[in-house]
Amino acid sequence: MARIYLSPPHVTGRELELVQDAIASNWIAPLGPHVDAFERELCAVVDVEHAVALASGTAALHLALVVLGIGPGDEVACSSFTFAASANAIVYTGATPFFVDANPATWTLDPELLDRALADRIAAGARVKAVLAVDLYGQCCDYDALGKVCARHDVVLLQDAAESLGATYRGAPAGGQGSLAAFSFNGNKIITTSGGGMLVSQSPEWVEHARKLSTQAREPVAHYEHLETGFNYRMSNLLAALGRAQLESLPERVATRRQINARYQERLGDTPGISFMPVAPYGSGNFWLTCIVVEPSEFGADREAIRLALEAEEIEARPLWKPMHLQPLYARRRVYGGDVSARLFERGLCLPSGSALTETDQERIVGIMLAARGTKVSSDKLG
Ligand SMILES: Cc1ncc(COP(=O)(O)O)c(C=O)c1O
Repeated sequence: MARIYLSPPHVTGRELELVQDAIASNWIAPLGPHVDAFERELCAVVDVEHAVALASGTAALHLALVVLGIGPGDEVACSSFTFAASANAIVYTGATPFFVDANPATWTLDPELLDRALADRIAAGARVKAVLAVDLYGQCCDYDALGKVCARHDVVLLQDAAESLGATYRGAPAGGQGSLAAFSFNGNKIITTSGGGMLVSQSPEWVEHARKLSTQAREPVAHYEHLETGFNYRMSNLLAALGRAQLESLPERVATRRQINARYQERLGDTPGISFMPVAPYGSGNFWLTCIVVEPSEFGADREAIRLALEAEEIEARPLWKPMHLQPLYARRRVYGGDVSARLFERGLCLPSGSALTETDQERIVGIMLAARGTKVSSDKLG
């Protein structure tokens, strides 16, 4: 039986047609008509004015920080409950990240804790320049609350929207809430270019500066002239063609992932010891991944026992993000709170959620999960 992945790429429409067009036109370069069109089309979907297509979401986060002038001696607050790319981008600039825990009601950056953290760092004399807020598993942070906190402390609010394309916050598409926002089109995301990202903003200056930096910061003269250090971060026209085709089906992809989530809830929602990621009242997620928390004493097996039972059947499930403050790499960095994300990491599991997942596969997954009840509770704690 074919392995079931957590969130594999899913080709649904005009991918081949548009990639063939890119090849036929000989625009096989990190620029071209599909790159320009992909940027325009993503702007329309996200309702922002400016975008630059890049090689990855990580590159988008990095350039967001660079165009803000963030560097050595600066500090940036970051959601602890995230993928390492968010924090790594801060470190690339030479700035120092500090971590803030999640709110248990949304699993995203806790605005009150952020307020206290910023006050504490600023009182200690730190030069805090920005907050990197991460939309988690397709659910936005509470941007009204975060925006007020950032304004009070005079720091810029950046949005890591790598996982939230297609979600909304108070009726507006995810990606327009931060001063700058980064999307990812990595192979596991809701739409993919195999690898890719986009930086968006209402500010033309920031986006144009990022565009220049993404192709080694060439000055607009005939020869190669450079005043600042650039990067090779631009998206290929071939991949932009793929991205355009994928973007066309974004609404269907969100609807399918929502349906998958609803089916998991229907089949597992009443099971003692299993709870689902809370749905925040201020928006609607894209249900990129369905996430559960397992209470071993009530369910009769722990998260690892479920994961291993699925793995034995060639089904991929993964623990929730290991928070940054528990990562050996970032263990010596400052953290505010930390217990919420630590507990979610210990007990949480992401379930297969790809938009091509069939109902039959989902029934099988649920059956294996329920059959894991009463199996030995694993003592294997992930370091
Ligand atoms: C929250 C978060 N931030 C950043 C990234 C980095 O994106 P990319 O893999 O496109 O560099 C990802 C996913 O990979 C992510 O999930």
